[in-house]
Amino acid sequence: MIILGGSACGEIGPNLARLLKARYFSIEKRDFPDGEFVVKVPFDAKGKDIAIVQSTYAPHDRRLMELLFIADALSSMGAKSISAVVPYLAYMRQDRRFLDGQVVSSHVIMKLLNAAGISRLVTVQPHKEEPFRMFRGKVIPVYPVDTLIDAIAKDLREPYVLAPDKGGLGLATRAAELLGCGYAHIEKERDPVTGAVSIRNAPEQRFDGKQVLVVDDMISTGGTIALAAEFAYSRGAAEVDVAAVHLVMAGDAYDRLRKARITRIYGTNTIPFGNASVVDVSGPIADALR
Ligand code: R5P
Repeated sequence: MIILGGSACGEIGPNLARLLKARYFSIEKRDFPDGEFVVKVPFDAKGKDIAIVQSTYAPHDRRLMELLFIADALSSMGAKSISAVVPYLAYMRQDRRFLDGQVVSSHVIMKLLNAAGISRLVTVQPHKEEPFRMFRGKVIPVYPVDTLIDAIAKDLREPYVLAPDKGGLGLATRAAELLGCGYAHIEKERDPVTGAVSIRNAPEQRFDGKQVLVVDDMISTGGTIALAAEFAYSRGAAEVDVAAVHLVMAGDAYDRLRKARITRIYGTNTIPFGNASVVDVSGPIADALR
């Protein structure tokens, strides 16, 4: 297999090549004055199995287009198989029509990946797996909770895991199991128009003297984590930290977390972010590719 890194593969592209003992190439990309760009595959792809590595964080559309362009170029060169390793896959949260007339964006992305010639998709901590039924080919979701928690466990003294919504329960239970501590979850609701979050149902739990670790699949605006932190402190937490797989960190999310008295932010390298302790997820992705 050949690993072909897109411009947003970060360290995961070269790491995968090293772990899989595969050849590594970076895509050649040329920007035009009007903001458009073109890509060029720097090797003969004919008859080869190729894995493109490209994360699709903001600007999402540009990074997605690059992935599609690379796949199509490989396809037209006669590649034997094209896999896409997309550490953060954009648009997955719109996995249904929340309001009449809306698009189901995640389904469109699946169709586009197929149209560009991608037959295998590897992605990390997808928000839900439902969109994958629209993909023709194999999808391998990678859940790196063990890698994330193993790397941060040494920092945690008297942890207690808190999931900020029901959807995060799977992550929370596994994190608590690895840390050998208790867990609780909040039931949150989000206004489909404004996006504002509030607590619908809170557990009875108190966290007196505990180091509460809020775990979630991603931090976007930081609203969900701020809400969970406020709740944990109101129930006696000594410290609140957060561990999230994807550090989307939109807009003023970081300031919001600081204001919410989040002490430490842990995340992974699916998206680059400087103000956090970042854990590499190349290992579990390589396992998936094997
Ligand atoms: C939602 O269901 C997700 O698991 C995250 O909790 C959510 O996407 C985080 O978004 P934000 O940081 O904007 O509250």
